[in-house]
This record gives sequence, structure tokens and C-alpha cells, in this order.
Amino acid sequence: MSKSHAHRLWIIEALEMRLASPSTLTLTQRLYQSLRDWIQDGALGTGSALPSSRHLARELGLGRNTVLGAIDRLTAEGFVEARPGAGVFVAEWRAGAMTEALPESDAAATTPELSTRGQRILDFSGVLTDRHTAFAPGVPALDQFPRERWQRLLRRHHQRAPLEWHDYQQQGGVPALREALCDYLRLSRSVRCRPEQILITQGAQQGFELIARLLADVGETVWMEEPGYGGAHSCFVAAGLKTSPLEVDSEGARAANMSTGLSSPRLIYVTPSHQYPSGVTMTLPRRMALLEAARRYAVWIIEDDYDSEFRYASAPIASLQGLVDNGPVIYVGTFSKVLYPGLRLGYLVLPEALVEPFKRANARLHREGQYVAQSALAEFIAEGYFVRHVSRMRELYRRRQANLRHALAPAIALGLKLSSGQAGMHLVAELGSLELETTLVTRGREAGILLSPLSRYYSKPPGKPGLVLGYAGATETEIASAGRWLSDAWCELSCSDSG
Ligand SMILES: Cc1ncc(COP(=O)(O)O)c(C=O)c1O
Repeated sequence: MSKSHAHRLWIIEALEMRLASPSTLTLTQRLYQSLRDWIQDGALGTGSALPSSRHLARELGLGRNTVLGAIDRLTAEGFVEARPGAGVFVAEWRAGAMTEALPESDAAATTPELSTRGQRILDFSGVLTDRHTAFAPGVPALDQFPRERWQRLLRRHHQRAPLEWHDYQQQGGVPALREALCDYLRLSRSVRCRPEQILITQGAQQGFELIARLLADVGETVWMEEPGYGGAHSCFVAAGLKTSPLEVDSEGARAANMSTGLSSPRLIYVTPSHQYPSGVTMTLPRRMALLEAARRYAVWIIEDDYDSEFRYASAPIASLQGLVDNGPVIYVGTFSKVLYPGLRLGYLVLPEALVEPFKRANARLHREGQYVAQSALAEFIAEGYFVRHVSRMRELYRRRQANLRHALAPAIALGLKLSSGQAGMHLVAELGSLELETTLVTRGREAGILLSPLSRYYSKPPGKPGLVLGYAGATETEIASAGRWLSDAWCELSCSDSG
């Protein structure tokens, strides 16, 4: 048997085997993929001849067009070339280019070289990968969202959507949503605004990003609460900004710190209604001091009001933005906690002077979108479904927090300290040492329980030891068993610590 005959026989036998195994691809795709694999791994070397399409079709029992489809694609991509009168051959240049382009080892894929900013984004308060355990912070009760009603609304608004909603938009969001939001914010959060001041974003995160990029230059400073929210920190770092920590005590971010020891800021980021993650509510004197500091430095305050709806002991605290007329405050809101994070809808309430620049920059940087969802959400709010859902969730979260306290009762009796829990979706447990924090987090991981270490919410090590315990997104049963586990583990470790 000649060498070329044996070669053709090998191709046909190998193809027969490939086509015999189950696959969801079409026959043409499988032929193409098999030949391409062999060309790329060198089994079909440069210059080797393929059997003719007629021969392949006959031997494999395929239609000729099926075979031609695969050969044509390989030809178009440069893996093979047709030589008139001679047949189809593996192309020379392509094989060379492919091997040169691939690095010896695929090191780039395993250890990518990130920018300094990229690395810093990943270094601070790591994104949780396993969100579905009892203590994942910031996750609402996803299964309680009225999905069927929402789907009906989405369908109806989709049918009614004007054609221009499929085009690029530059309105700042669907007007009906901005109007509904404006009414809601005025009434429930004492925010001072007109609908035109509201810019709909894809969550709070996009709002922080816009603010950082539009209002501060690379190298300038943001004052951030310490401990603080990693998501906002990442946006500031990504925009090339430096962060200066503002110490938080039982009254909120410390005003006394604001004039001493810190480089002057361009922006001040705070969560006054419910400090993240400590849970402290900023007192009125601190709020006034903050406004005063912002005026003194002629800078903007970013008020992140992410979960103020869930306040259990009293009515929601009025916003900082609403304290004074034309204050230097950008109010940031989100639907991630009150509805669900995958919705990716949030908003900025902008001071008048910033409305136009922000609208235009957002349309340039991110583009506007989700007009159908925005329109459905406007009806969801205007028809009262939103307020009903929020008040149902408030009751549920109140119960879940009580369950968590109950499960932790043995540890509490022995001295475990929890945050007041007057609001929000998580509690903070204070721990005696960073060693204890590390041991509990490690043991929790082994037991399948996610424990977020409080020290990770500090931008500068070592941070205070503790645990951030989300309870909103977990069922009562999950809370009870994870809470019991934590209580036992804490008691065991703390008693052996002190003894
Ligand atoms: C303090 C704080 N702000 C804002 C958000 C919401 O961000 P987004 O709207 O981008 O989901 C979160 C979510 O975890 C948060 O914890």
C-alpha cells in the first residue's frame, strides 16, 4: 500500500470513529472540527492530502454537500488549500502560524499579568463565589420575589414598547420609572428631587463608577468609611483613585477625623442610614459635620442608601440628601436588595448641575438599556406591588434575624456580641481575635458554611475581627442549623481560648 493511500485510509477510519460517537453538532460541524483538530495538533501535517470530497462522502455514507460544507470552511479559514487538478492539501502557512502563536506553556492563561489597579480591585474584600449558604451577606430572599406577576408585567410592557426603545437612548431612563421613583423617594426617604434629577443605572455599582470617573482625576482621594463596602472601593480603585479611611464608631463615620490626618478629598463615600457592614446609623450631628466638611472642601458626598427599607425598630431614617436644600450630595439607590440583584437596576439622584453631564457620559460609557424592565418596574411601583413586597420582606427578615439570634443564644449567653440589628440584612458578630476569626472561617468552609470575616472589610490590615452574618436570603431551617453550628464552634473555641 502506498504511503498516501494509507494516509487517506487513516483519515477515513478516524472520521468513522468520530462520527460514530454521540454529539449534538451537525455532521458538517463534526467533520470540520475533526479535521481541524488533526491539522492543529499536527496529526495531519503541512502538505498532506485530504481524500477527495466525493471519496469521503462515499466512504462515510454522507451527502456530498455535507462534506463540501466542512472542506469549504477549512479552506476559508486557511487550514487547507485547494490545488486545481490535484486535490485539497493541508496549508503550510497556517500550521506554522498556529504553532508560533501558541506559547510553549499556556502560562498567560493561568497567571495573567494584571494592571496594578486590576490587582488592587481583586485584593480588597473578595467577591464571594458561593452565595447560597446561610450567611451570604447582601442576598435577599430570592424565592420570595413575585416572579409570575413580574413576568406578566414584563410581557405586557414588551408588547407595548415603542420601537425607539430598541434604539440607543439618552433620556436617563424611562420617564415613568423616574416619576414613580421620585414620588417614592420623596415620601419614604425625604429625598429632595425632581424626576429629571434621577438617572437610572445598572445597579449602584455603575453609579459609583460614573461618579468616580466624572468627578475625580486619577490619583485623587476618596474618603471611605472603614470598615466599608468593597464594591464601591473597587470602583474607586478602578478609576485610579486613592482611598483614605474614615473611622466608624457608634455614631457613624467620625467627623473629628475629617480635618486631621487625611489628605483632602475629591469625594466622600458614606452609608449613613445603615453603615455597611457595621450597621451603625449616622447621628444627626455627624451628618451635619459631614455636610460641613464637604462644603469646606467643595467636594461631593456619595450617599449609598442600599437597604434602608429594612428597618425594624423604627420608621426608615430620613436621607442625608434631604437634610438641606441643594446640598453637595449624590444619592445612590439600588433595587438589588429590595427586589433582586440580577435585575441590575439602580439610580442616582443628581444635584441639578450634574444632571446633563452624567446623562451624557452614561450614554457614552455604558449606554442605556433595559427600557422594558424599567417600564414594568414603574408599574410595579405605581400599583403598590413594590411597597407590598418590601413590607412583606421586612417582616420576613425580622423573623429570620430573630431565628439567627435564637440559634446563637448559647454563645450570646457566654459573651458573643452581636450588632444591634435595628435594620438591614445581616448582623455582625464581634470576635476576640483575628486567630479566632480565621479558625471559624476555615472550619465553616469545611462544614459548608460561608462566614465572611469582618477584617476583610478594612482596606488596611489588620482590621477588627468579626463575622458578617447575612440572614435575609436563607430559610429558617438553614439559619437554625448554620446558627447552631456557629454557636457550638464559637463556644468551643472561645472557652478553650480563655481557658
Ligand atoms: C453597601 C452596598 N451598596 C450597594 C450595594 C448594591 O450594589 P448593586 O446595586 O450594584 O447591586 C450593595 C450590595 O451588596 C451594598 O452592600
